[in-house]
Amino acid sequence: MTPKSFYRRIEGELADLENSSLLRTIPEVDCGADKELVFQGRKLLNLASNDYLGLANDDQLTSAAVKAVEQYGCGSAASRLVTGNFRIYDDLERELASFKEQEDSMLFTSGYAANLAIMDSFAGRRSVVFSDKLNHASILDGIRMSGARQVRYRHNDIAHLKKRMEAAKDAEDRILITDTIFSMDGDLAYLEEIADLCDFYDTMLVIDEAHAEGIFGSGKGIAYERGIAQRVDLHMGAFSKGFGSLGGAVSGRKDLISYLRNKGRSFVFSTALPPAVIGANLAALRLVVEDPSRGDKLLRMSRELKGHLEACGFDCGQSESQIIPVIIGDNETVLIARDRLIEKGIYAAAIRPPTVPEGTARLRLSLRADLTEADLQKIKDAFAGLKVELEECV
Ligand SMILES: Cc1ncc(COP(=O)(O)O)c(C=O)c1O
Repeated sequence: MTPKSFYRRIEGELADLENSSLLRTIPEVDCGADKELVFQGRKLLNLASNDYLGLANDDQLTSAAVKAVEQYGCGSAASRLVTGNFRIYDDLERELASFKEQEDSMLFTSGYAANLAIMDSFAGRRSVVFSDKLNHASILDGIRMSGARQVRYRHNDIAHLKKRMEAAKDAEDRILITDTIFSMDGDLAYLEEIADLCDFYDTMLVIDEAHAEGIFGSGKGIAYERGIAQRVDLHMGAFSKGFGSLGGAVSGRKDLISYLRNKGRSFVFSTALPPAVIGANLAALRLVVEDPSRGDKLLRMSRELKGHLEACGFDCGQSESQIIPVIIGDNETVLIARDRLIEKGIYAAAIRPPTVPEGTARLRLSLRADLTEADLQKIKDAFAGLKVELEECV
C-alpha cells in the first residue's frame, strides 16, 4: 500500500524546520525545576525555568502535596461541577480572593486553560478584543476560539492603542487583554494608561499576571504595585510560575466569576486539578502572604545582572523584571550561545521564531530568588566571555 500523501507533507515540513534551525525537540533535561538541573548527565545552573521564587522543591509545598495525596488520593476523577471538588479547593479559592482583594477567585487546570475560558466566556462574534502584539499565545488562542474580532496594537504603544480603540468605539462589546509582564521580553505593560483608555472607551479590562504574581506588589501582581487593582475587571494569574506549582486562576467580582464557572468550556469540560497540586498551591500562597520579600530580592538581583549584561554590550531590551532577554538576532547564533553557556555550567533557553519575531532570537534568562552571590558572579563571568566568543564566530 502506498503511504498516505499527508506523510510526505509532514516530512517536508519537518525537514524545512530542521534546515532553518527551527525544529523543536525536548532537551535531555532531568530535575528541570531544581536550581541545578541535570542536562545530559551534567549539573547546570538553571536559568530556564519559571520557578522564580525557588518554590517548586520547597519543603512546605512538598509536604502539603504529600498530605493532600494521603488525605484525598491521586486524582480528582471529574470536573469540579460534577464530583471533582474537595475542601482544600474551596480553601484555596477563598484565600486567593482575599489575597487579591477581590470578591471571588476560581482555579483552572493551567494558565492556558484560564485564558481560553476568559475569552470564550466574555467575548463572542460581536465583540472586539484589543490585544497587545506580544500577548501570550494562550490569549491569542482564546480570542480565536471566541470568534471575536481581534484588534492587535503595537507592543506597548499607547498612542496606537488609542487610535484602534477610537476606530472601534461603536462595536457592541469591547474587551482589552494584556500580559502585565511580557514573557519573552520581561518588560511591563503601561497599565495606568491602559486602564484610563478602558474607562474612557467603556471597555472591559483583563490582565494576565502569570509572571508577576509572587514577585511584584507584595506577590499580588503589577496592578497592585501600581495601585490600580480595583480598576481591573478580571485578574488572571498562574500557580505554575512564581508559585512553583501548577494551575491558572482568575479573580474578580462575584458575578463575573460565576459567569466564568458557567461559560468557561475549559473549566466545565475538563477534570479538576488533583489534590496534590491544590495542597502545594495553598502552601505556596501562604508562604508568599507570610513573607513577600523573596520577590524584592529577585528584582534587585535582576537589575544588577541586567546592568552587567548591558555593560558587556548585550541588548537586554526593556526588561524590568526577573525575565531578561539577551537578544542575539540570528537563529543559529543563539544556539551557539546556548551551547557555550552550557560548557560554562549554565542552562538558558534559546528562544526562536515563531515564539519571538524573526531576527530577534534570544537567550531568555529567568532568574530565581535562591541564586547566591557566587551564582550571580558565575553568570556574569560566563556572559563576559560569551560576548567575545560570539564575535569570533560571526
Ligand atoms: C503570560 C502567560 N500567560 C499564560 C501562560 C500559561 O500558563 P500555564 O503555563 O500555567 O498554562 C503563560 C505560560 O507560559 C504565560 O507566559
